[in-house]
Amino acid sequence: MTNTSEELRIRKGVDRGEPFKIEFNGQRITAYQGETIATALLAAGYKVFRHSIITGNPRGVFCGMGLCFDCVVTVNGKENVRACSTFAKPGDVVERI
Ligand code: FES
Repeated sequence: MTNTSEELRIRKGVDRGEPFKIEFNGQRITAYQGETIATALLAAGYKVFRHSIITGNPRGVFCGMGLCFDCVVTVNGKENVRACSTFAKPGDVVERI
């Protein structure tokens, strides 16, 4: 997948902190201070964060506020982390479950 983070971000009227890199399934993507992991992934063009263990259907951000658990990923080896309610930190390694 192409990293499209620069094309998908709103530019006008938004003040962001310093950019940094995180990794998603081996791809380096840009995140900014104060962004959640979900925000960084969506801005980079990733909509599928995992697949259902029951149906195999793709899952990503659904509620966006920590209730549905559709966005869970593995972060720095810790499983079942909600991407929508976890701030990205420099050097985070994020993987699909
Ligand atoms: S999108 Fe629902 S918990 Fe993250």
